[in-house]
Amino acid sequence: MRIPIIAGNWKMHKTRDEALQFIYAINMEVPKREYVETVVCAQAPILRDLVKRQGENVRIGAQNMHQETEGAYTGEVSAPLLENIGVDYVIIGHSERRQYFNETDEAVNAKLHQALRFNLVPILCVGESLETRESDATENYVSAQIEKALMGLGKEQVKDIVIAYEPIWAIGTGKTATNEQANETIAFIRKRIGEIYDSETMESVRILYGGSVKPENIVGLMKEPHIDGALVGGASLNAKSFMQLVDAAFN
Ligand code: PGA
Repeated sequence: MRIPIIAGNWKMHKTRDEALQFIYAINMEVPKREYVETVVCAQAPILRDLVKRQGENVRIGAQNMHQETEGAYTGEVSAPLLENIGVDYVIIGHSERRQYFNETDEAVNAKLHQALRFNLVPILCVGESLETRESDATENYVSAQIEKALMGLGKEQVKDIVIAYEPIWAIGTGKTATNEQANETIAFIRKRIGEIYDSETMESVRILYGGSVKPENIVGLMKEPHIDGALVGGASLNAKSFMQLVDAAFN
C-alpha cells in the first residue's frame, strides 16, 4: 500500500504571519501520517519558523535547492542547510523553474542525488506542454524527463523519491487533465520505472498528479488506481480548501 501525499506548493505567496496562521489552522486537523502525508512547501526564509511550529502530522518542504553542498552561489539554498533546519521534502524540477530559471535535466538529476544525500524527500516534477500533448508526444517527452532525472540512482533511492506528474497546460490555468488522462500518463510513468528498475520499485514509488487540483476534482483523481495524491498550487493557499484535499486523500 502506498501512503497518499497531499503537498501544497505555495510558490511565491504568503508572508510569515500568513504562513504561521495557516499552519496553526491545519496542525490539529490533519490525519496521522500513516494514513496520509501532509506537506507544505514554502519560501525559504520562513521554512525554519514553520518547522518549529509544525504539528505532529505536518511536514515542511522547500521549493528548490542547489545541487552543490556549498560555495559561491549567491542567492541559492543548500541541501545541508535544509536538512539542518528540519525540512523534510524539497520540490525538484518544477516546470516554473525549468521555464523561468533555465533548470536543465542535468541540474534536476544532480539535485535529486544531492537531496537524497541529505535525507530530503525529493518531489520530482515532470510534465509536457500543450504543444507536446497535442502532437501526441507526451509519453516520449515524459519518459525522457524521467530517464534523465533518475540517471545514476539505484532502486533503493528511487523508492524514496516522490514523482509529480504536472502537465504544464494544467498548471494555474483552471484546466485540469481529466482523471483518465492523469491516470494514463501516471500509469505510463510507473511502467517506465518498472522497465528501468523492477516491479517492486514500480509498485512502491509514489506518483502524484498536479495542475489545477481543487476540492471539486480531488475525489475523482484519488479514485484512479495509479494516482497517489496531489501537488497543489492555488488551492493550497487557503487552509480550508487545503484541508478538504487532505481529507479527500484520507477517505
Ligand atoms: P496549481 O499549481 O495547482 O495552481 O495548478 C500546481 C503546481 O504548480 O504545482
